[in-house]
Amino acid sequence: MDEIQMADLPRGAALPGQVKIVEVGPRDGLQAEKDEVPTDIKIELVNRLSGSGLSNIEAASFVSPKWVPQMADGARVMTAIERRPGVTYSALVPNQRGLESALESKVDEAVIFGAASEAFSQRNINCSIAEASDRFSLVARAAKDAGIRLRGSISCCFGCPYQGAVSQDSVLDAVRRFADLGCDEIDLADTIGVGTAMQVASVVEEAARVFPMERLSGHFHDTYGQALANIFAAMQVGMNIFHSSVAGLGGCPYAKGATGNVATEDVLYLLNGLGIETGIDIHTIVAAGDFISRALGKPNGSRVGRALLAKAT
Ligand code: HMG
Ligand code: MG
Repeated sequence: MDEIQMADLPRGAALPGQVKIVEVGPRDGLQAEKDEVPTDIKIELVNRLSGSGLSNIEAASFVSPKWVPQMADGARVMTAIERRPGVTYSALVPNQRGLESALESKVDEAVIFGAASEAFSQRNINCSIAEASDRFSLVARAAKDAGIRLRGSISCCFGCPYQGAVSQDSVLDAVRRFADLGCDEIDLADTIGVGTAMQVASVVEEAARVFPMERLSGHFHDTYGQALANIFAAMQVGMNIFHSSVAGLGGCPYAKGATGNVATEDVLYLLNGLGIETGIDIHTIVAAGDFISRALGKPNGSRVGRALLAKAT
């Protein structure tokens, strides 16, 4: 397809040559589905995604099923998926119990998740930022002892659905807390997709003063349609890890009105157009997006997915 064979175009000097995409659709995407998604569908989605060349897939959550019933089958998903060599399979763990279940299910990377906003921390994990830090320090130590990777995800780095504006100092404080816990990677999340390009560039640059840029990632929900612009802005200041969700699946059960993450297909189209390597085959992702959209009976949330599928018929 002509529009994705543009690797020879000149690349802006500040843009990275390579980007790692973390596919979060099976977790962040599906967790927002109201109706129960059959475990077999979740497993097939992960297997289709891992066939695309993705190196990191967030496949499950080991959270309280009372809080997020949709993710209650995390252990069944993790144990039944095909494990492709070279793919890191990550899962959310809110506490030690979650970590124990994740380790039993042979998760490669545990994701602890906090917030830059006190109000969101209370709503999402039922405790303050300080209490969460104490809880996470036990989880972090146990993950390190088990020899698995540890990632820290910070919600509301660019705005909060409950308290509104979030200061850069709160974001930096959260980054420092996760850095001190030994996180291998730290996500700056725009939970409700309100951030805009210059704000994102500024927060990313500041965060990189306290944690290495090459291990910071951008997790942008696309509620206000700013995610691609924000990714571009973040790349211009040196970020090279981004989260995305196939077919733009998702939302957040604790952030009313939040839509899904930016669609993986859309991010790949941008990166392909810029000649930035990802190692991912966009056509396999488009097919996976078509599969899950049909399985859920929902319109495909990726504009690139819709365009390429329409062209193929
Ligand atoms: P709590 O109610 O304060 O704690 O929840 P609890 O210890 O009283 O537990 C409540 C019940 O859950 C108990 O069961 C526990 O045993 C059970 P009961 O005794 O009543 O029968 N429980 C568990 N069960 C299975 N696995 C566990 C587990 N832990 C407790 N690990 C807690 C505190 C943190 C557990 C809860 O608030 C929770 O699970 N929250 C998770 C919420 C969530 O998953 N949110 C969405 C993911 S975050 C996100 O999407 C943002 C992100 O994408 C970045 C961004 O975009 O911003 C990452
Ligand atoms: Mg999210």
